[in-house]
Amino acid sequence: MAKRVIVTGGAGFIGSHVADALVARGHEVAVLDALNTGERGNVPTKATFYQADITDPAAVRRVFAEVRPHWVDHHAAQISVPESTKDPVADAQANVVGSLAVLEAARETGVEHFVFASTGGALYGDPEKMPSDEETPIAPLAPYGAAKAAVEVYLGMYARTWGMRTLALRYANVYGPRQSPHGEAGVVAIFAARMLSGANSTIFGDGEQQRDFVYVDDVALANVLAFERGLTGSYNVGTGVAASVNEVTRLLVRHAGFGGQVLHAAERPGEVRRIALDASRLRRAVGWEPSVSLDEGLRRTVAFFREKARAGPRSPHA
Ligand SMILES: NC(=O)c1ccc[n+]([C@@H]2O[C@H](COP(=O)([O-])OP(=O)(O)OC[C@H]3O[C@@H](n4cnc5c(N)ncnc54)[C@H](O)[C@@H]3O)[C@@H](O)[C@H]2O)c1
Repeated sequence: MAKRVIVTGGAGFIGSHVADALVARGHEVAVLDALNTGERGNVPTKATFYQADITDPAAVRRVFAEVRPHWVDHHAAQISVPESTKDPVADAQANVVGSLAVLEAARETGVEHFVFASTGGALYGDPEKMPSDEETPIAPLAPYGAAKAAVEVYLGMYARTWGMRTLALRYANVYGPRQSPHGEAGVVAIFAARMLSGANSTIFGDGEQQRDFVYVDDVALANVLAFERGLTGSYNVGTGVAASVNEVTRLLVRHAGFGGQVLHAAERPGEVRRIALDASRLRRAVGWEPSVSLDEGLRRTVAFFREKARAGPRSPHA
């Protein structure tokens, strides 16, 4: 049965792919986004768009009262880990208090199911066991991860006290088309865009830090399956495989045909050294498996940025 869904952050990278996937399954999608890093052109043409800031509870409440959603997929956030270290208070304002405003609006309008974009990459710190499953102790190294952990505690409370179905999807490093190359996060988008323009790229640290890179279409599918199967609790979304930044850079150099230089700069504080996520709990629950290999995902991402550069900044929804 078709549902009304609010996707916060649906003008951004992951949220817009989730919105696309929900529209494709016949659901009625409304996007709530302040457009601070997202772009209006990322919102599916079939979705309704509301420009609102999650740090403004009254504005969020107005959108919810109008849409009266059955489901909420909460992706709007301050997404930079280094920014969160520089200004933990601003990070918490968006990522904790803003999320609470979305949860409250959801409770007031009787939302059935609330899915939250959490993090695996920044939640477990530098864990001993690799790949890390959901039983790994929560030990974030930066305020960004601490804020995500705080929201997960709220999700549990809303489930227990208000009977809302709540779910945290703990993403690994998500990459793919539409990721912003202008932010500080998202090594793939930043390097792909720079390499295509012929500019040198800079790796922070020795490049041997390892991440679990998961393609955005696989992440969008995890969201759709979670809603359709009524999933609650906390689940990792990752490939289980750790790839080094140097390895990803080598693949990008090949796909972009880059002949310039890759430079190194000092490592940044709060960065995790090595992480890969065990998503077997999600596989057992809904049959989810990552289907796009790193090489193929990077090929598609470079192709997207190449096309975007060719078409200019006002390229249509792709
Ligand atoms: N990209 C990753 O690897 C990754 C990993 C783990 C978790 N996440 C989470 O996934 C979600 C989406 O991240 P993304 O990579 O697509 O980033 P993004 O910046 O592309 O998307 C975030 C969207 O939220 C909007 N937004 C930001 N602050 C807002 C506010 N105060 N009010 C309303 N809208 C606001 C932005 O305009 C943007 O459209 C975030 O919650 C992020 O923390 C991302």
